[in-house]
Amino acid sequence: MMADTLVRLSNQAAGAAGFVTLALSGGATPRRLYTLLATAYRSRFPWDRTFIFQVDERWVPWDSPDRNARLIRETLIRPLKLPSERVMLFPPAASPEASAREYESTLRAFAAGHGLGDKGAFLDIAVLGVGRDGHTASLFPGTPALAAESAWTAVVHAPAGVTPPIRLTLTLPVLNRTRQVLILAMGARKHAVVRRVLHGDSKLEDPPLPVQRVRGREGTAWFLDRAAWEGAD
Ligand code: 6PG
Repeated sequence: MMADTLVRLSNQAAGAAGFVTLALSGGATPRRLYTLLATAYRSRFPWDRTFIFQVDERWVPWDSPDRNARLIRETLIRPLKLPSERVMLFPPAASPEASAREYESTLRAFAAGHGLGDKGAFLDIAVLGVGRDGHTASLFPGTPALAAESAWTAVVHAPAGVTPPIRLTLTLPVLNRTRQVLILAMGARKHAVVRRVLHGDSKLEDPPLPVQRVRGREGTAWFLDRAAWEGAD
């Protein structure tokens, strides 16, 4: 299961470099995973050497239950009492652009300060989800953020019907320089997108779905429950 893989990869990274960098998505799916990591798996995880980053955020009021940071705070930061210098979040700001810019500065300073270069290769692991439309992180089909080449973060205006509509996200250059990408999909409502991406001959769609464009440098793995794979709860 994904928690076991995360424990193994995190301990490997922490053993090699002295610390592990972990980017976390929001949404409903990972709540159970994060809760497990902070409870049943707590003693096996190198929490004292872990830096947490956000994959993406929704531009909603600071105290909104829809904020991805709130999920991370409730399940991990608070129960584990992670010190603020080891947690990097999209900050509150006057505009989404300002928040994305400040987060990118924080990331660049972190990478520079830890000898990780200036190309966005600072993440050991990214935990991603997938939407029924094939989005991952907050990279939605047809949005200009997908074309980012040098920016590490982007503001995304999601396609009509997506709420909340304004999102902040890491870009493909960062996600694709992550060592290990782990994608989590659960429930029958994810079956159609899982089938599009993983069943059959797994050809890239034209244009490829955003989730089809993400590849970890050392590995990409999907974690599914039976309903996401077979289509029935
Ligand atoms: C978000 C995300 C997003 C998420 C997928 C799946 O803010 O929504 O980080 O990329 O992983 O939308 O979301 P669910 O787990 O809620 O289905």
